Amino acid sequence: MVEQDFILTSYNNAIDSGKVKWSSPSNIALVKYWGKREHQIPENPSISFTLSNCKTVTEVTFTKKESDSYSFEVYFEGEKNEVFKPKIQTFFERIEVYVPFIKDYHFKIETSNTFPHSSGIASSASGMSALALCFMSVEEKLTEIMMSKDYFNKKASFLARLGSGSACRSIEGELVVWGQNKSTESSDLYGIKFDGEVHPNFKNYQDTILLVDKGEKQVSSTVGHQLMYGHPFATQRFKQAHENLANLKAILASGDQKAFINIIESEALTLHAMMMTSMPYFILMKPNTLQIINKIWNYRNENDSNVCFTLDAGANVHVLYPEIEKESVLEFIKNELVAYCQNGHFITDHVGNGAELIKK
Ligand code: PMV
Repeated sequence: MVEQDFILTSYNNAIDSGKVKWSSPSNIALVKYWGKREHQIPENPSISFTLSNCKTVTEVTFTKKESDSYSFEVYFEGEKNEVFKPKIQTFFERIEVYVPFIKDYHFKIETSNTFPHSSGIASSASGMSALALCFMSVEEKLTEIMMSKDYFNKKASFLARLGSGSACRSIEGELVVWGQNKSTESSDLYGIKFDGEVHPNFKNYQDTILLVDKGEKQVSSTVGHQLMYGHPFATQRFKQAHENLANLKAILASGDQKAFINIIESEALTLHAMMMTSMPYFILMKPNTLQIINKIWNYRNENDSNVCFTLDAGANVHVLYPEIEKESVLEFIKNELVAYCQNGHFITDHVGNGAELIKK
């Protein structure tokens, strides 16, 4: 599908008001997206596990209005919120051409997260995908033509991408690919459910998120992606992401857990290496991040385990492990890793199936 396919040309705005509600999860990248071109087009392909417990629930109430401008209010966890407004305003500007009805209505956006606020967990993926899905449900109400599930999901992902790149990977589960590449069915415009085979070893994978630093992100992802412009290792890195994705596809099919770990941990460290070697340069890991990584490596060697870690652009650690090791690894986390978490906080999650419609 091309960009023009997502432009809504005719709709019935005789409908006065309505309400829609979606929940959408966060996702954790295995091959990382880091570096973009204009309009959130990724410089390299990425693939992620969709999560299950970490999600945003968003209700949108729309009411017909007269003026030809955007009109919306935001409530976060029951309280009126001004902080999110500029990001949503930018989102409206970017999506207007595809959902022109956004100027015909006033929108009351009520949103909340299932994970604690200021946990250092990026809520932009779940938040922007939930909002994009709500607008797709509004579009569905205003158009009389039956929309296929495939088109609905693709356009929701396309819109979510314009809010926050990685948000386009949160619509479906269990694995989603975004960004053109030779090894999987894919697009730069939206995320697509991974089309490859997935060995039982990688089914219902567990992700325990260790909250090492719950503060504001030191580097926003907008600034982060910009660091890849003119980065001395950018070309090599983008090439590596293509190779890692191709190799991961074969690994996911074969069930080779050691090979999986090598790619996942190398991707996390490469993401951080890109930040350490950019200008300006950043170190986003904290001493406790390194303590946790070393503990994971020791535990893995001593117990012949398949636990591994990945990182986002911050200090928190995602501990990934197969379902079969759920009890033992959780025990290890509680005994040895929780001490490195801020206030002992961590979140247990696992791979999920994507967003859910709550109210149509
Ligand atoms: O979606 P953004 O612009 O916040 O970028 C997220 C980038 C990483 O989380 C670091 C990697 C990824 O692929 O999710």
